[in-house]
Amino acid sequence: MNQPVRIVIVGMGQRSMIYARESLADPTLFKVVGVADTDPQRVRLAKETFGLSDACCFSSVEALCAAPRFADAAINGTMDRQHVRTTIPLLRAGYDVLLEKPFAINQREADMLLACAKETGRRVMVCHVLRYAPFYRAVKEIIASGEIGRVMHADMLAQISYFHESVSFVRGKYASPEICGSGLILSKCSHDLDLLSWLMQHDTPTGVSSVGSVFHYKPDMAPDGAGTRCLTDCLCERTCPYSAARLYIEHPQRWANILWFGQTPPSDEEKRRLLADGQNPYGRCVFKCGLQIVDHQSVLISYTSGATATFSVNGGASAPARSLHITGTKGELYGVFEDERFTVSLVAPAAPGGKVTRTVDVSAAQHGNAHGGGDQLVIRDFIALITEQPVSPCVTTLDGSVTGHRLAFLAEDSRLSGGQMQPY
Ligand SMILES: NC(=O)c1ccc[n+]([C@@H]2O[C@H](COP(=O)([O-])OP(=O)(O)OC[C@H]3O[C@@H](n4cnc5c(N)ncnc54)[C@H](O)[C@@H]3O)[C@@H](O)[C@H]2O)c1
Repeated sequence: MNQPVRIVIVGMGQRSMIYARESLADPTLFKVVGVADTDPQRVRLAKETFGLSDACCFSSVEALCAAPRFADAAINGTMDRQHVRTTIPLLRAGYDVLLEKPFAINQREADMLLACAKETGRRVMVCHVLRYAPFYRAVKEIIASGEIGRVMHADMLAQISYFHESVSFVRGKYASPEICGSGLILSKCSHDLDLLSWLMQHDTPTGVSSVGSVFHYKPDMAPDGAGTRCLTDCLCERTCPYSAARLYIEHPQRWANILWFGQTPPSDEEKRRLLADGQNPYGRCVFKCGLQIVDHQSVLISYTSGATATFSVNGGASAPARSLHITGTKGELYGVFEDERFTVSLVAPAAPGGKVTRTVDVSAAQHGNAHGGGDQLVIRDFIALITEQPVSPCVTTLDGSVTGHRLAFLAEDSRLSGGQMQPY
């Protein structure tokens, strides 16, 4: 395969754009040569950004796959429900695929995709970008080195900020299984359960149980005077942290880009009009959206060795944070991803306090990047994989992504059955 590798984009949304722009930053790596998107505006966006000819622009995956293959691989950044149904035709048409997470929305779909990849011999890589973050990579290396001994328990936590929770999960495109195909534990936490599975790769899960509910985003939690829409009938809009005007008009960094992606941002006056419109989901009162997924959930996992793991997610926190505390027989790791550092504490009877602690600081490599640079590194690893060059230890192949997804499917089964342990 010659470089730059030729890539076709399927689903020219926010995620695909992040990856596709890497071709503009480093044209020797890959070139975007085509697009397939059901939305004509997104096709136009790709056409203008990457200088595509009409012949390489398609309104569906089916149309793309019916044409003779003109690219080496595809980046599939469609939404969760479309992942399997759009990737299978791509694999059958001879494209390797970099696929957004989650790679499937249930076990049946996952099995279908795995079977198709095996049958066609094509490669699928999943965008578990956090594996590439220097923080998690360093954690993985220390566990694999045996420095903290054998892992007895891994505890992980994901805090979703109130502004991310409201724009994506309460008002947004992950608000119900009907819209996105699954609950929070897969749509958001497939990242976390993938990280956990990768860090615990030396062990095999035996069972999963989970509980969770809607605690916060329901009518009885609404402040006095709350209406149904921030900009039409709310008396407490100026004091509510979830004010659509405050989040999506007045503040530049509270995920307003989700609302105005792919278009010239409207004027503030036009934004107010759009958010007041009864059809606009982002103008709704967060307490009266009828949230169909949980806003907090906890998962308990048992392993063959007797080890255990716990993972919790909480939506509506003051700030985003992913923390971990991993306990081994010789010591432990403790840290917060967003702090860009963690500590390694080892049992040391001769030392003052009976332990020695060092700090691993990854800030120079992570630069405050939300995914620790993983968005940029995953595409490079994908190019290495399909051109048969050495890949990184983080590589997120389809086979290597199965455990985390299965844990998410079983956790949701358990939650829906009142927390019963599900055999892995
Ligand atoms: N890896 C990460 O960290 C991360 C972060 C956020 C989102 N995601 C995942 O990325 C995916 C995309 O999210 P997004 O925010 O970019 O979505 P988006 O809505 O911005 O983009 C999806 C695109 O797919 C197009 N599309 C829909 N159906 C299609 C079809 N049948 N054929 C071709 N195109 C079709 C839409 O028109 C749209 O342009 C989701 O699965 C999401 O869960 C991953």
